Amino acid sequence: MSITSIDKNKNTDLVLPRHVVIVMDGNGRWAKKRYMPRSAGHHAGVKATRKTVENCLVNNIKVLTLFAFSSENWKRPEQEVNSLMELFVSALQAEVKELHKQNIKICFIGECSAFSEKLQEKIRQASELTHENTGMVLNIAVSYGGRWDIAQACKIIAEKIVDKKLDVSDINAELLSQYVCLADLPEPDLFIRTGGEKRISNFLIWQLAYTELYFSDVLWPDFDQKELEKAIHWFSGRQRRFGKTGEQLTNLV
Ligand code: IPE
Ligand code: IPE
Ligand code: MG
Repeated sequence: MSITSIDKNKNTDLVLPRHVVIVMDGNGRWAKKRYMPRSAGHHAGVKATRKTVENCLVNNIKVLTLFAFSSENWKRPEQEVNSLMELFVSALQAEVKELHKQNIKICFIGECSAFSEKLQEKIRQASELTHENTGMVLNIAVSYGGRWDIAQACKIIAEKIVDKKLDVSDINAELLSQYVCLADLPEPDLFIRTGGEKRISNFLIWQLAYTELYFSDVLWPDFDQKELEKAIHWFSGRQRRFGKTGEQLTNLV
């Protein structure tokens, strides 16, 4: 990866999403089409991920959140889960130094305690090394589920009530928003799902309440700069009303 390709003037006429979230789907079908094992699709998926991080930098995206492995993906055949875990370790090993050089802050969301000690160590190292970085924030969702996220937020709040630091009457949407994952970041502006399925698959279900949803038929390993920029252009044309009328927004009343 190189930062020399960054064009600072790119997209100045567009309304850019600050926070882009991506469900990187379609690796298995990409491999199947080529009579290759699913693991080959996941390897190709890592390459697309690496390029997407670079393409987000080029397009001045401030926060990128990637769905790498869901709470439900543990149900896949053991062999596939194992090969995905090995791939995560090797991808972190190969990429973290370069991401750090690019001033990227890497964070992980999900139930990381479910991973092997080795993978947990890589996750810790990547987070600690890049903790102070001030460039793009890259969140990687692993063993993540939106329902788990909301449940863990409720648990923290319940503990605070037991400790008398909060009262039941304090519970509202704003309070819950402070305890779900990514609470310290702007809410997702643009959701992209590749692979043709039109569903959220238990990704950031709380955080996506007002996110613009973009679905692409392109399989994840084929998702390139052109496809990302198509999604950003589509986003730029949306009118985000957040419950108001279109007239309220255009007349600024
Ligand atoms: C997404 O690709 C990667 C992960 C879920 C880890 P898939 O493996 O779901 O690919 P398809 O949907 O079977 O094509
Ligand atoms: C969603 O893809 C999870 C990730 C991309 C990591 P899946 O392929 O697991 O989703 P479903 O099972 O088709 O809903
Ligand atoms: Mg899939």
